[in-house]
Amino acid sequence: MTFQEFKSQKIDEIVSLFLSVYQKEPWYDKWPSFERAKEYLLDIVKTPGFKGYIALYDKDIIGVCVGCINRWWQGDEFFIKEFFIDDKLQGNGIGSKLYDYTVLNLKNNNVKNIILLTNKNVKAYDFYKKRGLKKSQDTVFMYQNIT
Ligand SMILES: CC(C)(COP(=O)(O)OP(=O)(O)OC[C@H]1O[C@@H](n2cnc3c(N)ncnc32)[C@H](O)[C@@H]1OP(=O)(O)O)[C@@H](O)C(=O)NCCC(=O)NCCS
Repeated sequence: MTFQEFKSQKIDEIVSLFLSVYQKEPWYDKWPSFERAKEYLLDIVKTPGFKGYIALYDKDIIGVCVGCINRWWQGDEFFIKEFFIDDKLQGNGIGSKLYDYTVLNLKNNNVKNIILLTNKNVKAYDFYKKRGLKKSQDTVFMYQNIT
């Protein structure tokens, strides 16, 4: 297994992996098309401060972490937008290694904090807690349906 920085190479392979992971439990996302998911991921790639990291087995992409570095008064922070491992390979330590690789690279980019949103009822929440992330005590995620 190897790790490398992701710019925008092999984007179609990443979209396929993204769709196959998130269409299954616990997420059951229903992307209407490959193209729509590709647009979503390309929007992330084009965001100012974008950084991405991938895990490869031979030449196949098996894990992805994408997000962007935001400037902030307490120092730069990295917002993880998507983090996923091939569902056939989950639970084998690949996510942990990719997370460590991401942190190492972010430190080299002088990033001070990592932030993300996830669902507190899925295993990803425990995964992140084990990596040392904490639930914010002061922040709430709010939403409103305006249709
Ligand atoms: C969450 C995810 C990224 C973790 O990657 P992974 O390679 O499966 O995780 P690892 O094998 O490195 O496991 C790391 C820890 O998570 C825990 N874990 C793994 N699978 C688990 C499961 N099914 N239930 C509970 N904990 C689990 C392990 O106990 C492990 O702890 P350890 O480091 O003390 O051994 C991966 O499972 C995934 O892609 N899930 C679907 C997409 C997703 O939910 N992404 C996050 C959205 S914000």
